[in-house]
Formats: sequence, structure tokens, C-alpha cells
Amino acid sequence: MPKEKDSMLNISSLKEITFESWKPLLPPNSPAVIFYSSVLRALTRDPRLMTVPVDDHMVHRGDGVFEALKFLKQKIYLLQDHLSRLTMSAERISLQLPLSVPELAELLQLMVQKSGLQEGLIRLYISRGGGDFTPNPYTTTGSQIFVAITELKAPSREQRFLGVRIGKYSQVGKMGWMAQVKSCNYLPNVMMKKEAVDRGVEFMVSFDEDGYLQEGPTENIALVSRKGQFLFPFYRNILKGTTLNRLTELILAQGLLPVEQKDIQEEDLLVAQEVFMLGTTLDVLPVKSFESQNFTVGPWGLKFQALIEQDQK
Ligand SMILES: Cc1ncc(COP(=O)(O)O)c(C=O)c1O
Repeated sequence: MPKEKDSMLNISSLKEITFESWKPLLPPNSPAVIFYSSVLRALTRDPRLMTVPVDDHMVHRGDGVFEALKFLKQKIYLLQDHLSRLTMSAERISLQLPLSVPELAELLQLMVQKSGLQEGLIRLYISRGGGDFTPNPYTTTGSQIFVAITELKAPSREQRFLGVRIGKYSQVGKMGWMAQVKSCNYLPNVMMKKEAVDRGVEFMVSFDEDGYLQEGPTENIALVSRKGQFLFPFYRNILKGTTLNRLTELILAQGLLPVEQKDIQEEDLLVAQEVFMLGTTLDVLPVKSFESQNFTVGPWGLKFQALIEQDQK
């Protein structure tokens, strides 16, 4: 809790300010090294300008779509896959992209170059835009773009080679189109991450209303079964991850294992040969335990990591 004198609100001395007269107590800070806002119509490195207007539907209703893309050696990995998913997400909620896909790609590439980072993460948001604070999407003045580039926080060596612990989420995950669309309405995902942190494991994974395996808060899950098949859930009540999708293509192209999308029950997960979490920042992480069940961190995890790394090169 802040001390009395540092309190967020001191009613008796509350003043009206303008941007020019604003004297922040602490220098504003942001993990973003560079930011673009279509509201500003500019790029900025000044954290004071890295804001989204409070009347934007993305702020007060989660009404927007987003993507997180990784770049390595200044090259954006799976750029087209991310932009295709963004387009699909926007279409599913009748949100118009303010720029064409080639224009968006050009903006992202310019920002990567200007960030000065060799590797990093791009967070791209398309919001419904400012409105009248009601949920009515037709009251807004038009969709907006916000892009922030941050450093990449890669998983630790321990997580990569010794594996991560996962648990069973206490709630059902998002269902149907809500799960398939990468919308800015991520409260259920946030609660899932909170439960993982509270329980002291890296990730929780959810099961759907029928008891079938879904995904982590921002990661897909897949397994190699005892019969040696690469299995992962149908893209019905989960997001179609670009990493999982790419890994599947690589496994098939090299004829490594039979690949099957399947309704996976908890019993199937418990007897898996190897289990993996997959996502843009992680690539592929082996799972060493699900609740009290331990798994081998074995050869397939390393093989899949190598496949993705090779692909990124
Ligand atoms: C809910 C959810 N599932 C899975 C993923 C993994 O997708 P990707 O591999 O494209 O990062 C993400 C991350 O974007 C996500 O938010």
C-alpha cells in the first residue's frame, strides 16, 4: 500500500492540469522501446505518449483484436500467419482494419528497424476506437491501431531443457468463437494466469464444457501419445496458435510422426509420452508435470525446439 503522503489521491489538493503543466511524481516508464498510435499519427519513444484514450472501446469493453509477434535478427517470424489471424479475428467481430495487410506489415517492419533491437516482441492492437462509453460499437469514430515493441523475454534454459509444471485450471476455458478470436477481451486468460502464479506452476491448462483439453492462458498444448502420435485439440474451443500450426507443418513435411487433431481427455493427457506448451514467446517448452503426474522430458521436446529454431533461421 502507498504511504499516506504518496497516496494516489489527495482530495484536498487535487488540481486540474494540462499536458504542459503536468509534473509527474515519478518519471513515466514503459517496457515499450517504441510505440505507434494512429491517434497520434506518429511513432514515439516517449512513455508519456504511449497511451490509449479512455473512451476507446478497447479500454472500457475489451473491444478490439490483437497479435503478439516475435522478431529475431530484425526478421518477423510468421508475419503472414499472424496478420491472417488478425484479419480473421477482426472479421469475426465486424471490425474494420484501418490499414491493409501489406500496409500493416510495412508499419511493423519499419518499427522493428527503428527499435534498434535485434530480437523483440511486437504487440499490435486494433481497437474499435473512441465512442460514447456505451457498449454500442456503432457509436465509435473508427478503428485505431496501437503498436508497442518490447524486448523479448525468452524462457530460461531450465524451462527449455528441464521442462515446466502445469496444472488443471479450476474453470472451463473460453468456448466457441470467443476462444477462436484473439480479442482484447482476455479477462478469463488473465484469471488463468493468476491461478498459475498463485499455485506456483508455470501454466494452467483448461478443459472445455465437455471435459476436453483446451489450452493455456496464452499458449497451446500438444502431446506425443504412447503410440507415438502427435496429438493436439481441435481448433474449436481454443485459439489456432501460429507456433503449433507451424510445428505441425514441419512435423508433417519431415514425416516425423503421424499428426492428429483429437478431443483429448484428462486420462489421455495423464498417459502421454511427452507433453509440450507452445507459443510465440516460448516456441516449444517440454512439460515435466501436470498436477501430480510426472512426464519424461524426452527427445521429442528437443527435436521440436530444434525444428522451430531451424525454421526461424
Ligand atoms: C489463448 C491463446 N492460445 C494460444 C496462443 C499461442 O499462439 P501463438 O503460437 O500464435 O503465439 C496464444 C497466443 O497468442 C493465445 O493467446
